[in-house]
Amino acid sequence: MFFDKFKLNNKIALITGGAKGIGLSIAHALGEAGAKLVVIDRDNSTGGIEELSKANFDITFFEGDLLDRSVPQKTIDFTLEKHGRVDILVNNAGVAQHGDTDEFNDDMLDKIMDVNVDVVFRMCRSAIPPMKKQGEGVILNIGSMSGIASNIPQPQVAYNASKAAVHMMTKSLASDYANQNIRVNAIAPGYVKTDITNLPKKYEHWYSTWSKQTPMTRMAEPHEIASAALFLCSPASSYVTGEVLVVDGGYTTR
Ligand SMILES: NC(=O)c1ccc[n+]([C@@H]2O[C@H](COP(=O)([O-])OP(=O)(O)OC[C@H]3O[C@@H](n4cnc5c(N)ncnc54)[C@H](O)[C@@H]3O)[C@@H](O)[C@H]2O)c1
Repeated sequence: MFFDKFKLNNKIALITGGAKGIGLSIAHALGEAGAKLVVIDRDNSTGGIEELSKANFDITFFEGDLLDRSVPQKTIDFTLEKHGRVDILVNNAGVAQHGDTDEFNDDMLDKIMDVNVDVVFRMCRSAIPPMKKQGEGVILNIGSMSGIASNIPQPQVAYNASKAAVHMMTKSLASDYANQNIRVNAIAPGYVKTDITNLPKKYEHWYSTWSKQTPMTRMAEPHEIASAALFLCSPASSYVTGEVLVVDGGYTTR
């Protein structure tokens, strides 16, 4: 009976940046729970979409760059045309860049803020009207422990600030739309093994600092974030909203 609460039978789940990394793993988790998937990504070269098809999920891929201001609304419209509803929105697409603030130019700043903050806002803005109409909906934003603690040794003020914005957006939306039966939560992952954390040789020494700073002394696998996502996207978390669930191997305990 409790297990049933994790089921997403025929729910329509839209995942941004779901072609690889954490987003791909979340797509697997929601697909296994029975959701019909719509994945939006700007890059389909990594084989993730084929992987989801081979797993026999009901998966539709929408290729597009969310930086194009019209794409968030187009993605929602596409989902509505295909399935008639959008039950779950996972705002996962994100980018990271480190660099000293005194050398961080406007282009670098825009790249971070546009994808990590503005796109999340636009996706929510477009998803909320159909969710209101349906009388229910779930939004999950992928934030970061970097929105809670200034992790070291990499200087990444813009990234940290963008993820803190995601957390606050999550809480504000949760408060505004709880009475419309729309739950909004976030996950704040610690270091996860994906391309974002695949460091070039000259920064490889950061890995030892990362694991020393993490009580569990290791990075997460993407599926360890995806299980938390399944909880927050499913009726198992029916009374949870406005939560930023930290999944960081204990990093922010210190
Ligand atoms: N990996 C980590 O250690 C870590 C830690 C905390 C938070 N996060 C967050 O998790 C999320 C996923 O990161 P990941 O590590 O899986 O990264 P990743 O680079 O492996 O995957 C990101 C995906 O998003 C897509 N994407 C990025 N910008 C896009 C755009 N403008 N339009 C369409 N698609 C776009 C990419 O093509 C890619 O498929 C991000 O929001 C990231 O900030 C990651």
